[in-house]
Amino acid sequence: MKRFISIVVAFGAHLARCAVEFNGPSPINHPRITYAQQPDCPVTCFDYANVNSWTSYTSVKRLQRCEEPMLIQLSLASPLDDPRATLLIRSCTLGKQQSEAEMSLKSAKNPKKDEGLFDPGLETAPACLASGAEVTRDANVFLEDKKRANSTEVDEILEGMQKFFEVKDNCDESAVFSYYKNTVASVYVGSDYGKTTASSIISALKSSSGGIAQICGRGRSGTLGVFIDGSGNLAAAQRAAATWNIGKCVETEGRSNGKDMQKVKTWEIANQDDTANSSTSSTPSRPSLRSKQDAPQAKADGPCATHVIVSGDTCWNLAQKYGITTDKIDEFNKGKTWAWNGCNSIDAGQNMCVSEGTPPMPAEDPQAVCGPQKPGTIAPSDPSTSIADLNPCPLNACCSVHGRCGTFPDFCEIHAPPGTKLPGFKSTCISNCGSEIKKNGEPPSAFQRIGYYQSWNLDRPCITRKAKDANTDGSYTHIHWAFLEIDRTTLKPVVVDKHQQWTDFKNLKNVKRIVSFGGYSYSNDPTTKDIIRNALTSSGRQTFANNIAQFLNDEGLDGVDIDWEYPESVSNAYGIFFP
Ligand SMILES: *[C@@H]1O[C@H](CO)[C@@H](O)[C@H](O)[C@H]1NC(C)=O
Ligand SMILES: *[C@@H]1O[C@H](CO)[C@@H](O)[C@H](O)[C@H]1NC(C)=O
Repeated sequence: MKRFISIVVAFGAHLARCAVEFNGPSPINHPRITYAQQPDCPVTCFDYANVNSWTSYTSVKRLQRCEEPMLIQLSLASPLDDPRATLLIRSCTLGKQQSEAEMSLKSAKNPKKDEGLFDPGLETAPACLASGAEVTRDANVFLEDKKRANSTEVDEILEGMQKFFEVKDNCDESAVFSYYKNTVASVYVGSDYGKTTASSIISALKSSSGGIAQICGRGRSGTLGVFIDGSGNLAAAQRAAATWNIGKCVETEGRSNGKDMQKVKTWEIANQDDTANSSTSSTPSRPSLRSKQDAPQAKADGPCATHVIVSGDTCWNLAQKYGITTDKIDEFNKGKTWAWNGCNSIDAGQNMCVSEGTPPMPAEDPQAVCGPQKPGTIAPSDPSTSIADLNPCPLNACCSVHGRCGTFPDFCEIHAPPGTKLPGFKSTCISNCGSEIKKNGEPPSAFQRIGYYQSWNLDRPCITRKAKDANTDGSYTHIHWAFLEIDRTTLKPVVVDKHQQWTDFKNLKNVKRIVSFGGYSYSNDPTTKDIIRNALTSSGRQTFANNIAQFLNDEGLDGVDIDWEYPESVSNAYGIFFP
């Protein structure tokens, strides 16, 4: 057992920790896993008009790591509390200045502005039409008795949700959500209303401690609502919006009828032939829905009629809108369309087919580093090319359906055809899948036994070992000194030898003495992880190599080991798991 120690101390700290989670939840979404390059909070809300440019997560727990107010986009047709649904939560951080790093990022294309769309929602959604009339209506307001939200936090998220609806490109969206510490909220604006109406229903709960304000019972397009809850129950906020989205009123049991009716100024949209600007009476005639169109047709060269899914879309609503059946909708997409997981789990912001024909390319995801959602990906000209194989990961790592590279089961296991996920799975592999160890047919002619000597082990109160004792039984063929530092400017090796072990290490007999660079800090620690990266750039590489060769000669050593621990940006989960 003792023999083992020099290996274990070099890597033990993170191997032991990561083993706990190895078959556990996805490292992307695990609330306690910190990726060196993935901050706690999503991107700053600077692009309110394109939810596809926001940061995506697949679990609510992951959101809890961020303590800032967040704006959230969820599909109403993919319930957060349904274990069979495949969640996609898009999110941005409110109330912050955009960082320089964010400003340099290329924003994802807005799929709603794609020229290939069958029915550009921004031009035809009723709520995008300019004509309308101001009508004052009565909203029912119910205030929360228990689980009170903090009213300062309530006001911050209400302001963010209002901004979302002020952006013209969101005129086809009907819902938006927010999450700030334990306060969650949803706002729903039916398609009978201009989206500026959001501000007046929102103001019904301004500076409150949570509650519900709603105008309902007029069908889904005539529904307006805001829901605030102080217990962090985002699923309840989603349920409220989904209830409004089927034209029903949210149950208000357990809340007191705080303000009775409240007058709310609404901006009501009318069809060209039915202008409802006549009065401010409390029961004006409802503007009629626009007439149904003929069922969409595939284009002549094969692509299907494409629709971008918005927050309020359900298969039922889409069937109404396009004059097709829900069965047809599933048939047009099942097994073909990227991210199509069935009618019970549709993700806002994705492209889908509303006719026969070949499916569209998936919408871009600014965080995707592999697969077809990587920004700037061009559809392959050869139709036999699988789009799942586009942009493979470096080092043959597995690419997940979310466009992330990694080596955990959520990246490497296959749970559905490329682009989709089976119910209950957060992810599935789309390329370089599998994690079986590839071996040669034969063992090597001689075995080697390698130990890492942890140069700082004498800092510990116990289980310490001096360098001179690193190989007393002679069983090691190689001992690595972990780790040498690298001078940032000269790229020369630097021996940090707090406990004066370096000379004894060099004097070890009958064993190859190897110096190691890298380790956790030089691979992942934000303060030092750039050093090896810089040393290996095309301008630094030759200097670094020459310096190492010189150092080995000068010190009379046998070799060098660059222990760069899976340096791919989002994949180095091993070293950075903090239980
Ligand atoms: C309400 O939230 C604000 C902002 O997070 C905080 O500064 C304040 O202390 C909170 N108030 C209470 C009573 O918790
Ligand atoms: C709409 O309102 C304007 C101004 O109040 C009025 O002149 C016009 O006749 C109204 N249109 C209809 C169709 O009622």
